[in-house]
Amino acid sequence: MTRMTRNPRHSGVFIAGTDTGIGKTIVSCALLRALCAAGLRATGMKPVASGCAMTPDGLRNDDALALIAASDSKPEYADCNPFAFAEPVSPHIAAAATPVTMAPIAAAFSRLAARADFVVVEGVGGWLAPLSDRLLANAIPHSLRLPAILVVGLKLGCLNHAQLTARAIRDDGCKLIGWIGNHIDPDMARPEENVATLRRLLPVPCLGILPFAATSDPHAQASRMSAAIEAIVSA
Ligand SMILES: Nc1ncnc2c1ncn2[C@@H]1O[C@H](COP(=O)(O)OP(=O)(O)OP(=O)(O)O)[C@@H](O)[C@H]1O
Ligand SMILES: [Mg+2]
Repeated sequence: MTRMTRNPRHSGVFIAGTDTGIGKTIVSCALLRALCAAGLRATGMKPVASGCAMTPDGLRNDDALALIAASDSKPEYADCNPFAFAEPVSPHIAAAATPVTMAPIAAAFSRLAARADFVVVEGVGGWLAPLSDRLLANAIPHSLRLPAILVVGLKLGCLNHAQLTARAIRDDGCKLIGWIGNHIDPDMARPEENVATLRRLLPVPCLGILPFAATSDPHAQASRMSAAIEAIVSA
């Protein structure tokens, strides 16, 4: 892969999803590996995570650990994941004692961005998932001024979810640079026709399609991210 230079206007990208559990982490890790392979310093961030395990070092979340493993520099855990909650429920329910606010997320993002060409920020649930009684997940890309890539979990219902999310992203004034389809359902009927329909209905280009894969090895998936990293670098 050819070496790329970063566009100084952006230092990150937000990985939005049509829902929870549709492949944001898989795509984020593959993008991180692809950015690193293109000669860029890339670091992952999961600003808010619920469903964390207690370890001797504190609460740890699998998504954040996967993003750190796929990053070229190894960020401090607390910068990668400033809000970690044990209970696997919506953050606004899990976080009663320590409500999520944007300031610690923005400060952690700045520290990561200072040591990287790109920060790949994984979203929390879907676009409007509540983070607190005052904040929804869309506050993160909006406040950090990040362009977004929409990961579409390819399954029944995704044609509606993808259009709704793309509309919401644009209505919120965020820049949507493209979408990536992720085959999470090996039994989905007529997958090619569904992908063709998404290409027709969504207002931005398809930047890649990930096959259903028994392994989630981000190195194996990174080769499918060339169009996505071209779009990120020139966004
Ligand atoms: N292309 C794929 N092939 C096979 N399994 C996949 C694929 N993409 C995702 N999965 C599986 O689906 C599950 C959800 O994926 P992932 O954790 O990336 O979703 P997510 O959108 O990041 O979820 P969350 O909202 O919890 O962060 C995981 O078990 C993952 O291994
Ligand atoms: Mg995830």
